[in-house]
Amino acid sequence: MSRTSDLKPGDEADYSVLAPVPDTSDLRKLRTAAAKCQACPLYRNADQTVFGEGGPDVDVFFIGEQPGDKEDTVGKPFVGPAGGILDQALRTVGIDRSKSYVTNAVKHFKWKPRGKLRIHQKPSSREIEACRPWLSAEIRSLQPGIIVCLGATAVRSAFGKDLPILKKSTPLDDLSFLFENTDYGSPLFRSSCAGSGAKEKAWADFVADLKVVAEAAVASSRVQDTRDF
Ligand code: URA
Repeated sequence: MSRTSDLKPGDEADYSVLAPVPDTSDLRKLRTAAAKCQACPLYRNADQTVFGEGGPDVDVFFIGEQPGDKEDTVGKPFVGPAGGILDQALRTVGIDRSKSYVTNAVKHFKWKPRGKLRIHQKPSSREIEACRPWLSAEIRSLQPGIIVCLGATAVRSAFGKDLPILKKSTPLDDLSFLFENTDYGSPLFRSSCAGSGAKEKAWADFVADLKVVAEAAVASSRVQDTRDF
């Protein structure tokens, strides 16, 4: 597949096509339809749509920003370096990834070339908005008890607006959480921060925040248990 980083001269970024979301809560059907999405220009330069993964019994629903280089190649969310960090953090706090759903606000990788590398670019508001119907469909389908927004792009997509960030990580309500230090720009993901202390601090903050989520997941399953008996 040819990979170009930008629209060619004369190409218009086209937002007239809406995301072709079928009227179903069947995740397999949603995934199949999303594979053909052309609701924003990002599909042109990405290898494939990276839809969410997990379910059907979901304790925690994680929303990232967008797939990275590895995710674009493999077609699954959080399987590259960021996924390794997420997996390690989930293991540390005892959240089972197989009982989580992991997805992204934007389902195509946005990048620009630097030599042979494909460097991540932050998605624009229009791109986030164009992709939003897929996230809404995933949430409608799974009805998760707990939603974790990994960064501001995820919040913008989940809530349809930017929310003021008062501190690093903010409980949005009892069962939704924003982890502000988990965007691509975060020291958690930047190798240039290695050894500076910033990465270690970001890791400690991330794990502390995830512990709160793990506790909320246990508490909400207890509520479920009580209701069942
Ligand atoms: N970061 C994200 O936000 N999503 C991915 O899928 C990978 C890295």
